[in-house]
Amino acid sequence: MNETQLEIQKVLERFRLEQIEPYAEDDDRDEKFRIEIYRALGALGFGGMTLPEEFGGAGMSYEDACSAFEEIAKSSVAYAVTLSVSTMVQSILNNFGNQKQKEKYLPALTSGQEIGAFALSESSAGSDASSLKTTAKKVDGGYMLNGSKCWISSAGVAKTYIVMARTGGEGSKGVSAFIVEDGMKGFEYGKKERKMGWRASPTRELLFQNCFVPDENLLKEEGFGFKVAMSALDSGRFTIGAIAVGLSQRALDEAVKYSLTREQFKQPIFDFQGLQFMMADMATEIAASRLMVMQSAKNLDAGASDGTLAAMAKLKSTDTAMKVTTDAVQILGGVGYTQEYPVERFMRDAKVLQIVEGTNQIQRVVIARSLKKNYES
Ligand code: CAA
Repeated sequence: MNETQLEIQKVLERFRLEQIEPYAEDDDRDEKFRIEIYRALGALGFGGMTLPEEFGGAGMSYEDACSAFEEIAKSSVAYAVTLSVSTMVQSILNNFGNQKQKEKYLPALTSGQEIGAFALSESSAGSDASSLKTTAKKVDGGYMLNGSKCWISSAGVAKTYIVMARTGGEGSKGVSAFIVEDGMKGFEYGKKERKMGWRASPTRELLFQNCFVPDENLLKEEGFGFKVAMSALDSGRFTIGAIAVGLSQRALDEAVKYSLTREQFKQPIFDFQGLQFMMADMATEIAASRLMVMQSAKNLDAGASDGTLAAMAKLKSTDTAMKVTTDAVQILGGVGYTQEYPVERFMRDAKVLQIVEGTNQIQRVVIARSLKKNYES
């Protein structure tokens, strides 16, 4: 880790232990999101980490931002993912928005005062994202949106939404991306999902019924929306990987600490080689995941974004999180399965990491397509 990353982790370790950890268990139970925690992260400079200073961002590298996501996730995947998705939205605005759109929407997001959300999925268009059905019909001065979006992270608490909707024919070329604001007429929130994990992070439907979105809220041009979504996911996916690494690291920390103090058969259970090997494997998988995440971030920082490596990093680190958190519960045994210790929450939080921002089966599709392309050419 470089100096900046050590400093980021020091600041965020203190913040999470003082301001996130004390509420984490109760808020998971009560499904409570605290905007004041998010805003406090913003006040510390983490609201728009990778965005240019011109628009209020911190101008940090993705590599440094990943160390921040990792640290926050040690206490709460919910806040880490809220920040990661909002950062992805900001990158979309920065990469594809015009000057006016950047000036209008970025400062509130980069400061952490407001949250951004990404709306691609629909009930019948999850993995097959380009089959989405929400329509945006051209009308005088703008577009009329009709349809609905599903499983949208931060829906209801976010103010700025990047919504993919169909302006043309079938397939990816008929999709456009729009900036939709909370409160626009015809835009409502649907049911709030009751989830296994990420319970402090709200997930809801978005409903559009004759929602008028002005021309100036179209991103780039008609038909460009699928590319906007896919290229954003290229960076979003490895930040999900960084969150998975933080979650895994915390689960390992809990398992090692517990096994050094818990005695059975007159010795700490850490001394049993069966458990030592489990923890050695956990540590190794975490280290491998971290290296892949950081290499993906480095590539993007160097202007050589690599969607295939990002898919590999997401696949490896989130499968690792599922395995490591499950093993942590196993090492803690009976108490690991109770809410007396946080590892049961970690195990529940890990599951959806294998599903969001493209299921791990979709990551394999991306990797396999790249293999085919390389070997065909
Ligand atoms: N960057 C830029 N353009 C890209 C791209 C990328 N990474 N990947 C594809 N494209 C372009 C292609 O070049 C192609 O353009 P042309 O026709 O001009 O060549 C176009 O997009 C269509 O590409 P494909 O033919 O590959 O598209 P497809 O329909 O076969 O789908 C897929 C590919 C990888 C399966 C894609 O649908 C996918 O990623 N699905 C998963 C969806 C997903 O990740 N959803 C996540 C929801 S967000 C979320 O989870 C956030 C949260 O809540 C935390």
